[in-house]
Amino acid sequence: MMRKGIESKDILMSAQVLEHRYWEWVLGREVGPGYPLPAYALSDVTIMPWHSTISPYEPVLDVNAGPVRLKVPFLSAPMDTVTGEVLAAAMSDFGGCGIIYRSRKADEQLAWVEHALRHKTCLVEKPICLKRDDTVSEAQMILDTKGFSTIPIVGDDGKLDGIVFTRDVNFRWHMDEPVSKWMMPVKRLKKVDTRTSFLKIQKRLRNEQQCSVLPVVDDEGRLAGIYFMKDVVDADPSAHGGKPTVGMAINEGQEDIARARAGIDLGVSMIVIDSSHGNCIPVIEQVKRLREMVGSKKVCIVAGNVADIDGYLRLSEAGADLVKLGVGPGSICSTSEGTGVGYPMFTLIQKISFAKRTAEGLGYRMAGIVADGSINTPGDVVKALSAGADLVMAGKMFVAASESISYVKFGLKDGKVIYRGMASKEAIKERNAGRYGKGKRAPEGVSGRGEWRGPLRTWFPQTLELVRGGLAHTGSRTISELQKYCIETLGAWALLTPAGREQNAPRV
Ligand code: XMP
Repeated sequence: MMRKGIESKDILMSAQVLEHRYWEWVLGREVGPGYPLPAYALSDVTIMPWHSTISPYEPVLDVNAGPVRLKVPFLSAPMDTVTGEVLAAAMSDFGGCGIIYRSRKADEQLAWVEHALRHKTCLVEKPICLKRDDTVSEAQMILDTKGFSTIPIVGDDGKLDGIVFTRDVNFRWHMDEPVSKWMMPVKRLKKVDTRTSFLKIQKRLRNEQQCSVLPVVDDEGRLAGIYFMKDVVDADPSAHGGKPTVGMAINEGQEDIARARAGIDLGVSMIVIDSSHGNCIPVIEQVKRLREMVGSKKVCIVAGNVADIDGYLRLSEAGADLVKLGVGPGSICSTSEGTGVGYPMFTLIQKISFAKRTAEGLGYRMAGIVADGSINTPGDVVKALSAGADLVMAGKMFVAASESISYVKFGLKDGKVIYRGMASKEAIKERNAGRYGKGKRAPEGVSGRGEWRGPLRTWFPQTLELVRGGLAHTGSRTISELQKYCIETLGAWALLTPAGREQNAPRV
């Protein structure tokens, strides 16, 4: 066993050296193989606050994903209940990136990519509408079940007749009346046409009084979508040259290079090689092929998943811009239970981040880190970032959005959305030759129900606010300041006892 230090020219030889160094750093003593070492999940730790002069609104969450700049460090998972064209478009509006899942048919996936890329920044293209003669009780139903308080009223020809703002409706006494009686008629509405630029729309929503929404109508007066002030005011449409930031997943098969090329021609910003075991020759070779194909284009290559330093080094060396970490922690994942293999997320991120810093110190170009799996709350996000992740990927968090495939396709079942692992019995059956290997029969994932939280714009800004709040509590203005604080400050992370964990959550 190499125990001297990282002298080898070949970084790949150094995984065990880095492993030794990491354990020495965290335990303060040398350890040898054979003894199970303490590795922690995100929920095992909490972050110590620090003197701060920073308000919760100040921290910036911008991050470089290879050559692509994102405003927030969030990727939505390429899963068949999570990211399709609708969620990918919405993720882009918030400055993150949705990774459209790999459908078996390349044409189908590319059509979704194309659709997401056509999306106009922050435009809600298909709002839920009512007709003039529908009743007030139907408007209440939309408010109660979907949470939408702005309901366009359209005719059979798609022409906009008006908008019902539910705050103006006296529901209790007028349930059976037609909505037309309560709507603001089209002639009194502020609106824009389909040619109006986003900048102009943003200016109006920012500055005009009584202008919280702007419906878009075409030359015939048909409704073409609606802009909401909440979505638009802080959006930065110039961030990616005005086009949405959209990603797509491929697998390790050589034939998927053609699919990736087609995606890049359409304008995707991220290609994710999606595998449950990324530290293997086919994935490494796929990274190399992609690297060669992408050349100097502004496309971020993501590969994974791995849960060991060796895998991270190999994928970095092959040319990945980002490496996805996580084997076993996903909320729909049964890999650890089924196979006995996996790794707790906090220690995994911290260890790989240690390897990254050390190798970079030696002059190596290393891939950024994506924490993937068990990132379910804003607190999980902050802890993952603090441990060294550059970005997070989440499935459960985003299946909750009205833009998820699950909600768009299947709606609610008993008030919840369907969420299933890509290696669940159900998903394997439907997609027998998917990313988890041809002919795979034993499931490594489960299927269940997840919480539904409504459209991204009604809750995701609060998630971002809480993540910024986490940075502010430690006096950090950026993600790298948070990481520096945690690495350099004695006691920055606390290990929770069962009582501590209980205290960490509300108990009323
Ligand atoms: P969260 O916790 O965000 O996790 O819901 C999403 C991540 O879980 C991975 N994934 C799976 N892992 N069996 C697994 O072992 C599965 O069936 C499965 N499906 C998804 C994936 O990395 C995703 O991003």
